[in-house]
Amino acid sequence: LTLTSCGQEAKPAQAGELLRSKAKLPAPFQVPLPIPPVKKPIRSDAKADYYRVVQRKASLEILPGLKTEVMGYDGLFPGPTFDVRSGRTTVVEQVNELDVSTVVHLHGGHTPAPSDGWPLDLIMPANGGHTEHHMMAGGDMTMGKRTYTYPNTQRAATLWYHDHTMDYTAPQVYRGLFGLHLIRDDEEDNLTLPKGDREIPLVIADRAFDADGSFLYPAAKDGPGVEPAYMEGVVADVTLVNGAPWPVHEVDAVRYRFRILNASNARRYELAFSNGPAKFVQIGSDGGLLDVPLEHQTVVIAPAERFDVIVDFSQYHPGDEVTLVNKLDNIANIMRFKVARKAVDESNIPAKLSSYAVTPRPTGVVRREWRFRRGSAGDHRGWTINGKAFDPAVMQAQVKLDQYEIWTFVTDVHHPVHVHLAPFQVLSRGGKTKVAEYDHGWKDTVDIRPAEVVEVLVKFTAHKGKYLIHCHNLEHEDMAMMAAFETI
Ligand code: C2O
Ligand code: CU
Repeated sequence: LTLTSCGQEAKPAQAGELLRSKAKLPAPFQVPLPIPPVKKPIRSDAKADYYRVVQRKASLEILPGLKTEVMGYDGLFPGPTFDVRSGRTTVVEQVNELDVSTVVHLHGGHTPAPSDGWPLDLIMPANGGHTEHHMMAGGDMTMGKRTYTYPNTQRAATLWYHDHTMDYTAPQVYRGLFGLHLIRDDEEDNLTLPKGDREIPLVIADRAFDADGSFLYPAAKDGPGVEPAYMEGVVADVTLVNGAPWPVHEVDAVRYRFRILNASNARRYELAFSNGPAKFVQIGSDGGLLDVPLEHQTVVIAPAERFDVIVDFSQYHPGDEVTLVNKLDNIANIMRFKVARKAVDESNIPAKLSSYAVTPRPTGVVRREWRFRRGSAGDHRGWTINGKAFDPAVMQAQVKLDQYEIWTFVTDVHHPVHVHLAPFQVLSRGGKTKVAEYDHGWKDTVDIRPAEVVEVLVKFTAHKGKYLIHCHNLEHEDMAMMAAFETI
């Protein structure tokens, strides 16, 4: 591996032009890795835990010595982590003290439609601020706040929540509206995985900063004036992990569990370790544990995907440094681990992780094709699904509950495709039915490479209503690469 220092001649291969910071950037591996705080309920009863989150602006020191104004859940970047039990309901009152409308979606959640974050179910700003660009008909608007109910009727998994406002998801997530939602269950608790301060979330997101420390984001104009950096998806020159630029974290020479989320708007990463024997033992994907652990030398992660991995530092010596790098795009550094000391390790990686089973390809089921393409639809320029720009009034499919369907995704360029409500299994990629290296387990986002065809097996259960399928390159999503379907 050739390591370049941060921000040097970076050439994004996959999305828009690189946004370059004008701010003075720190040397890498100076800032300690922050861990987002776990959100505490305001009360609990036999079945549910109740929380209150305030979406507000805050001025945070992301780059040393500079202030960045963020839009954060509780003013944090990333937001607080929800750490909840499978089968126990999470009720979140979201208060909007920002001056724009917002919508909250629990990504990967088995969520009833009224709480799923339909892009027009806007929470209007509590202060009645500047909203004209959010005045769109057809949603269930609420003033100032909205209560979301998540039944968590699903297995242990690493989910995340983020903004989903129609046409404005990308800039609002970029400014901070995202956080983790971890679901735990007995099956997972019964494994002797690393835990406590050896279970660490790594939320990776790229951002660019203006000279004064504020976020840089391209102007998003419709029509011929769309900046190319916006059109293809925003990629930026500073890699943040849990909100800190190229951070450093001290570890014992033992096993760690890292829940890796790519919360970037458009950037893909190929994660690798710079030196020594460290590799990734994948134990889970978007939808929870795999059946058996899987070893990877590198992990390719697209926007919105999660990889739950164990990394074993026991073959390193105190004083060793292990750098997590990105092999794509020449922007190499992500963060560094400093091995501090030998220590006792009571964890292990069980040979059998979960009762997760691969469902064989059924015959005679409904099949649907979703074509993700650059395109124009009417006066809309941008990105389309099946030739249509997102229209909240149009249901592109009526899908029966409790039945397997095979969905085929077809792309032109790279698109990370996400489906709400139900996870899926990848059945084939590029015509090959052997599960590809990064497609194992239950997924809710699948990275589809240029001109590729991917088939997935999906089954929706329990909740009738309007749901979404879309590209999770957030600029593509905002440029209408989204479709609604209805479960019936
Ligand atoms: Cu993570 Cu519809 O989104
Ligand atoms: Cu896309």
